[in-house]
Amino acid sequence: MSTTTLSAPDAPNAPDGPADGDMLTLRQDALHPAIADPSMDSMRILSETAMKFPEALSFSSGAPYDGNHDLADLSFHIDRYVKHLQERGVPQQRITRLLFQYGPVNGFIQDDVAQMLRNDEDIDVPAEAIMITHGFQEAALVALRGLFSGPDEVLLSVSPAYVGIRGAARMLDIPLEAVDEGPQGLDPEAVAAAARAVRATGRRPAALYLVPDFSNPSGTVLPLQARRRLLEVAAEEDLIILEDNPYGLFAPEGEAMPTLKSLDTAGRVIYLGSFAKSAFPGARLGYLVADQPVTGADGATRTLAQELSRAKAMFSVGSSSLSQAVVGGILAENGHTLRPATRELAAVYLERLQVTLDSLAEHFPPEDHAEHQVSWNTPRGGFFLTVEVGFEAGLGEMERCARDYGVSWAPMSMFHIDGGGERQIRLGFSNLAPEAIREGIARLARFINHTPRA
Ligand SMILES: Cc1ncc(COP(=O)(O)O)c(C=O)c1O
Repeated sequence: MSTTTLSAPDAPNAPDGPADGDMLTLRQDALHPAIADPSMDSMRILSETAMKFPEALSFSSGAPYDGNHDLADLSFHIDRYVKHLQERGVPQQRITRLLFQYGPVNGFIQDDVAQMLRNDEDIDVPAEAIMITHGFQEAALVALRGLFSGPDEVLLSVSPAYVGIRGAARMLDIPLEAVDEGPQGLDPEAVAAAARAVRATGRRPAALYLVPDFSNPSGTVLPLQARRRLLEVAAEEDLIILEDNPYGLFAPEGEAMPTLKSLDTAGRVIYLGSFAKSAFPGARLGYLVADQPVTGADGATRTLAQELSRAKAMFSVGSSSLSQAVVGGILAENGHTLRPATRELAAVYLERLQVTLDSLAEHFPPEDHAEHQVSWNTPRGGFFLTVEVGFEAGLGEMERCARDYGVSWAPMSMFHIDGGGERQIRLGFSNLAPEAIREGIARLARFINHTPRA
């Protein structure tokens, strides 16, 4: 393992700094093993690809469309939230304190989020069942920290999976077991089999992670029947389901599926929400819905979200007041429903999806599949689709493609927990305009056609 200097001065001859030889040098292998784990680097690699190859058109990330932002919206929405509080009779002094002071650990816009969840997702929970978090990522860390108490407890995860959940589990030393998904997402019977297999090794499968709607990375959607069956399996196998749903809003009109949380009558689901795609990722705001009652040693009962606030306090003290005010303002301005407000955005993504599918079909006619060996899935919405190619498409190939052909993508193998996806690539089309998509797929086609099948 290499030795990494973690604190080398930027300027070797800086007059005030210590001389080079005096600088403390740490060995990377003396740090927590998660730090050196290559799987922990996926998020950084994907987000930095664009910077490394500025000329390349990027299908690498799932960055949302950002052509509709206006700086003035930030102050408008903060003012809108202040007005919303004033209308509810909150005194000015309290509003000022709310925005400037340390705030409640679980946040102060839970009421607004609860209303939104009732309107948009048919999820009916009290504000006390909601914790406002620093994005999905903190919600996952908090939930995992709370649910997992020993080394024999295992997180089952859909595979391929979003790199954020894998990293969160790795950070907390929580072992992961993959449950491979098919074209229709997770098979509930495969989940049951995986839970039993874990139990047969003397360990306990404590929870299951999945993205039922337009999964990242594959774009799959779990059918309704499978959702119902998955909830039964969760009860039979004593699993908590961690439902991650950043893309559900971006379904075609009339095709939105009920969330697992809205179908859950037995308290089996913890819902992990994000405002990264429905508002904007710079807010770094998300939330956790955990309405399960928890009884303490004192006999008092609180929601799991309230109980987990101890973990949240130690991760981040509380979520940003400014971000909560901006998102609270967006919710108030839109009558606490983001479905109509995001229809235009959904249309942008649906058009981009269609252009990507059409461009692929133009360059790789399905009737010539035996020759080009290129095929892809056809998601109904979301930000991603999967392309199968006739050769191994890892990071090296992606970099070659970005450098020599001017287009980047994500190797699907980066998202697989137990290996797999070596001949697949993920195309994230959300932040490319239709013209750029057409040009990007033309470049990708040149790369694929010039790469020997193997
Ligand atoms: C599956 C999944 N969950 C959650 C998120 C959003 O996470 P965060 O709120 O931490 O930005 C993303 C964003 O890429 C995602 O793809």
